[in-house]
Amino acid sequence: MTENILVSAAWPYANSLIHVGNITGSYLPADIFARYHRLAGNRVLMVSGSDSHGTPVTVRADAENSTPVAVYERFHTGFLELFQKLGLAYDLFTSTHTENHIRTSQAIFLALQENGFLYTESQQQWFAPNQNRFLPDRYVEGTCYLCGYTSARGDQCDNCGELLDATQLIDPRSKIDGSTPELRETKHFYLDLARLEPGIVEFLRQRESYLRPNVLRQSLGQIQANSLHGRAITRDLDWGVPVPVEGWEGKCLYVWFEAVIGYLSASIEWSRLEGSPDAWHDWWTEPRTRSYYFIGKDNIPFHAVIWPGQLIGAGEAFSQIFEERPHAPLTLPYDVPANEFMNLEGKKISGSRNWAVWGLDFLARYDPDPLRYYLTVNMPESKDTDWDWLGFVHRNNDELVATWGNLANRVLAFAYKNWDGVVPEPGELRSGDESILAAVDAGFQEVGEHLKAVRLRAALNEAIRLASEVNKYLDTSAPWFEIKTDKPAAATTVYTALRCIDSLKTMMAPFLPFSSEKLNTYLGYQQPLFGEQFTETVADNLGAHQVLRYRPGAAAGRWEPSCLEPGQALVQPAPLFRKLEESIVEEERARLGQ
Ligand code: MF3
Ligand code: ZN
Repeated sequence: MTENILVSAAWPYANSLIHVGNITGSYLPADIFARYHRLAGNRVLMVSGSDSHGTPVTVRADAENSTPVAVYERFHTGFLELFQKLGLAYDLFTSTHTENHIRTSQAIFLALQENGFLYTESQQQWFAPNQNRFLPDRYVEGTCYLCGYTSARGDQCDNCGELLDATQLIDPRSKIDGSTPELRETKHFYLDLARLEPGIVEFLRQRESYLRPNVLRQSLGQIQANSLHGRAITRDLDWGVPVPVEGWEGKCLYVWFEAVIGYLSASIEWSRLEGSPDAWHDWWTEPRTRSYYFIGKDNIPFHAVIWPGQLIGAGEAFSQIFEERPHAPLTLPYDVPANEFMNLEGKKISGSRNWAVWGLDFLARYDPDPLRYYLTVNMPESKDTDWDWLGFVHRNNDELVATWGNLANRVLAFAYKNWDGVVPEPGELRSGDESILAAVDAGFQEVGEHLKAVRLRAALNEAIRLASEVNKYLDTSAPWFEIKTDKPAAATTVYTALRCIDSLKTMMAPFLPFSSEKLNTYLGYQQPLFGEQFTETVADNLGAHQVLRYRPGAAAGRWEPSCLEPGQALVQPAPLFRKLEESIVEEERARLGQ
């Protein structure tokens, strides 16, 4: 039966470039998972966008003497380019800076308020009299009251690493102009997490058997050790979603509170762009939907605790406010497969020190599938992993090229040359042919189970293992010798190998979509495995924003064994991947930290 699968991928901050750690942490696993479910015939909706609001963007705008809109638009444009080149097939990649997102976020806020899950409280906040504005915590610098470090940020000290109470900073100064701020009272809305706790705990318990250990530890484990407390969800800031309450002008919703609402608002925007404005309900109010949130470990509390709390608290009031009609409550996450981090050459990735492999820069020199391959076999699913340039070269040459690429290429080239460019007619299959076909066919079950459970490394390893089995089969049957004495026997071998390669093409497709599409054409298929990505400009009252979309079109890939027909016309093949020189290791390492 077809399932509705919502694939939610973390929203990248629109204030910095994307590196391989971000890609393997959430965007790539989301895409692999979505592509698998599309092949399996399920109804997939994969959404995300640029996390455009909040102080990360305003800090950068101030530093560049620019505006938040200009900063967000610049990075957003870069994300669209990267994701298209990397084949991340979002049904919609949009932004939080849209009218639709603002309206959706405000409706969630108002629903929580109506259901009694918000309260207000006054607190002290640094205020810059010369600018007549409150300063966000990270705009204030001073001496750390814990360790004495003189350049501690209001929110955190970079020396002792502790989270700070900004109001206790010694000798505070504004990061904008160095002036001395003063403490003033300010009022904020709080999300009453203490009242939401029973619902959140129930939500986590129901998923205890399959949530990843890191997710359970940072959610249920934390709550059991330390119960939940109210959290301020508004800020004195004008770049963001305005608080929809009279008298609260000049204040915005806290960026984390509204960014997670993007999963919902993007689904709504997608429905409108598709011309069926109610379609989002199939993923949001249909109880049989499964929604998966692909995030890095630093995002766990926001997705596994607070976001479920927001959804539980908003309940049915959301539809009443947003659509002015009753509807079932919003669907809670089914799974939150959070990844650990990827380091680089043994050190933590750091954008500011340029200790990073940047997505777009990488793609200027190498192809997307080798990147997707290395990031999957090295994905930090259960512990931190390391990007190592020598490892990249080896994995590319010894596995992607030697085990998979050469297998496909040598069989196709041999068939093309010796059987006039068509799939040869086999004789009766021998037991060796039957058994390799059966082994590969069984992969659809095995690899599929791993994919469904978001064990992507295991899934790809199994597919590669099957490719080496096919290599062994070929080495034993050796059709290149067979053909000299017994061409019909060679035809049977080549036909069998082509069927195996055709099946493996499908199994590799979620991971390696570009080379799988190529292989699909070499095998003589007219229709592509997947649809196409395209960009579009969407206008609203805030202006216009560019989005990335996906259209299934003629997509014909199916998660099932090959039934390649003898006589099908092949296309002259070319190698799927290229071998890399070991000399690139030193070249690439030399770029780091520069
Ligand atoms: N921009 C944040 C990050 O990249 C949060 C992403 S997920 C969101 O870590 F849903 F909250 F936006
Ligand atoms: Zn300190």
